[in-house]
Parts: sequence; C-alpha cells; structure tokens
Amino acid sequence: MVKEPVELGTVQETLLIPLYGRARDARSRNPVLGDQKAVELVERIDYDFSTFTGPSLAGSVLRTAIFDGWVSRFLREHPAGTVVELGSGLNTRSDRLDNGRARWFDLDLPDSIALRRKFFDDTDRATMIAGSVLDVDWFDQVADAPGPYLFVSEAVLLYLPEHEVRTAVRQLGERFPGSWLSFDTGGRAMMGNQDRNPVFKTLSARMRWVCDDPASIEAWGLRLLDSRTFATPQPEVARGWPHRFRYGMPLLARLAPPLVNTYAMNLYTLR
Ligand SMILES: C[S@@+](CC[C@H](N)C(=O)[O-])C[C@H]1O[C@@H](n2cnc3c(N)ncnc32)[C@H](O)[C@@H]1O
Repeated sequence: MVKEPVELGTVQETLLIPLYGRARDARSRNPVLGDQKAVELVERIDYDFSTFTGPSLAGSVLRTAIFDGWVSRFLREHPAGTVVELGSGLNTRSDRLDNGRARWFDLDLPDSIALRRKFFDDTDRATMIAGSVLDVDWFDQVADAPGPYLFVSEAVLLYLPEHEVRTAVRQLGERFPGSWLSFDTGGRAMMGNQDRNPVFKTLSARMRWVCDDPASIEAWGLRLLDSRTFATPQPEVARGWPHRFRYGMPLLARLAPPLVNTYAMNLYTLR
C-alpha cells in the first residue's frame, strides 16, 4: 500500500496526535471510543507516529469523549440541527454520532482539509470547508443550513494568542447568537509544562492561550453552561470509560490537582 505523505504546517501537524491517540485506544483491550477509522488512517498515512508518547495520547481520547457527550446532547435536543467542527483535523465525530438527520461542517486550514479530503468525502449532509476559525467568509455557508448550531473547537483555540480567540468568539457571537460553542481551555500549570510533554518532543507547535478559569471569559459574550475536567466528565460519558480512567482520574486529581484541574472542556452559549 502506498501511504499518503503529510504536508502540514506547524500547528496543523498536531492533528496527528489525537488521531494516533484514538488509534491506540481502538487497539487497546478496553477502548473508550473504539475508533476503527483512526486505526485505518494511521496505517494509511506516511508518518512516524511512534514519536508521539506520553499521557496526552490517552488525554486526547478522554477529551474527545467529553466533547462527544455534548454533541450527543445537542443532537438529542435538536436532531435536525447543525454541528460545525472548527479545526476538525482528522476527527471522526460524525462517523460516531451522526443520527441520519443532522447537518455537519468540518472547517480547517487548507492543508489540513486537503489531507482530510484524501480519507473523507462530502455528502449531502456533511461538508468540508477550507478556511480559518478567524475568517468570516464561511459563515454564509453555515447559516444556510438549519439551526440551531453547535460549534465545537477541540484542541484548536489553545494554539492561538488570546486576542485571536477573542476575535473568533466575538465574530461567531455576532453572527450566530444563542448558538452553543464548546472548546477547551488550559491554565498556567499546563501551558508552562509543554516543553516537558513527550508528545511535543518532535513538534515545534506550542499552545499559546492561557486561561486559568473558563468562567472568567464570560465577559467576551459567552455564558458558561458546563465545564468538565478528566476527573469530572458527564456521568453518562464516565459510564463508558474503563475503570482506569473512570476512577483513576478523580484519584489523580486528588493526589496531584494541578495535573488534572488545569485543563477544562467547556460548553458555552454565545450571547
Ligand atoms: C490538535 S489538532 C485538533 C484536531 C481535531 N479538533 C481533533 O481533536 O482531532 C489542531 C487543529 O487545529 C487546526 N487549526 C489551527 N489553527 C486553525 C485556524 N486558525 N482555523 C482553523 N483550524 C485551525 C489545525 O489545522 C489542526 O487540525
């Protein structure tokens, strides 16, 4: 099999980390997500995934499970609504959660979308868009789809400087008020540790936006609906986790609080 080469920018290359995390999870005895498509993609991409090591691989799987929980909740409440992934990378959320009625958009930078297009196709309900979370020219395309809208930006905004995150939030709020927006935030303890994180050993990208308290950014035009850490996932999500995570994460949070509590997954409404 001829493998697909990877030609990605510095931050874009980080999309391979959660992909590999999900593939390893799927190959494990007791998986969280069981994402077989990730296994297939890792086999088809020409990249030395073995350079990615450490707890962030499992962390990216738990993070995805928490975001999946909110997308499932949104689709239960709005089965014909629209889910927009901002910085989708090679995620496979719609494969896991599609209900046969929802509309899906996957937005990412052009080189990431070019790679995504090698493995995924547009359908009548799923559309890939090459663009930036900082652009507004794709808003019309999304607004043509039926609301309500859930925007999901998983492990993306962290890589932007704070003023750009603020711009993205403001622009979305102006055009899609009342929509749900979910994204993760990292506090100082996590950000300051990146150079020691083995998953970044061979990558030069680094996360930039420090946010110690997800509620502190409500003044940007957000209302915090829910906030979770790996130790406090939604109960229905935790039920799907193997014991090592379900009981191990709360224990780790008690033994070493900054390790777990500094990283939050958050659900907001845009005001
Ligand atoms: C760590 S990956 C996460 C990918 C995906 N959300 C996941 O969880 O598998 C970061 C992603 O953010 C994307 N990204 C970075 N800057 C972006 C921007 N300005 N607009 C859209 N996507 C961006 C990258 O291309 C990459 O796919």
